[in-house]
Amino acid sequence: MKRLVAPSILSGNFAEMGKDVKNMNEIGADWIHVDVMDGVFVPNLTFGFKMISDLRPLSKLFFDVHLMITEPKRYVERFVKSGADLVSFHYEAEQDIVGTIEIVKNAGCKCGLAVNPDTDIGAVAPYMDKLDLVLVMSVFPGFGGQKFIEGSLDRIAAVKELRDKCNGTALIETDGGVTLENAAEIYSAGADVLVAGNAVFGAKDRKYAVDAIRGKDCL
Ligand code: DX5
Ligand code: ZN
Repeated sequence: MKRLVAPSILSGNFAEMGKDVKNMNEIGADWIHVDVMDGVFVPNLTFGFKMISDLRPLSKLFFDVHLMITEPKRYVERFVKSGADLVSFHYEAEQDIVGTIEIVKNAGCKCGLAVNPDTDIGAVAPYMDKLDLVLVMSVFPGFGGQKFIEGSLDRIAAVKELRDKCNGTALIETDGGVTLENAAEIYSAGADVLVAGNAVFGAKDRKYAVDAIRGKDCL
């Protein structure tokens, strides 16, 4: 099991996003989680292709792009071309899941499927063998700084069981409400990657926050 930390730039300063991304390089983040929101699938708006292509040259970190948009099949290839290393889209937002996964992978990018807290976790089962990542939402998407939904630990364990049963290789990512205090139990439940917005960007010492989330035995 990996213990990766993916700070979400949704909690960064949009007026100084370049500086925040360079800071992620310095504090030892593993991935950069990029929350794309369209104001339709979720009641919030963030940024799109140009933000990613402008940030790309500033960091060699893995750009983990989380699409909270309707009908993502329309745009996934452009996000790949903008510089994403992985594109996750929502199960709830796309009819043609297999086709969308194929577009992402044919474009040479890794692909994740995200599920909201009220979606049956078994929904990912048919796609497990095609996925590089399953994104288990531990809040309802749209905003940073929300509280971790407790039932998410069982959902993470259930995805791990599904993956292991089919000898899948997908990483399990948890997104929403991750703190320095609950990170260890989330990794123990089976998560490989923890997204952390507020816990990192709101910290006095961001490097300490990333190290603390990852856990001392990984230092
Ligand atoms: C919510 C986003 C999350 C969020 C995480 O819709 O997908 O990535 O930015 O922020 P925190 O860690 O503060 O809950
Ligand atoms: Zn996210």
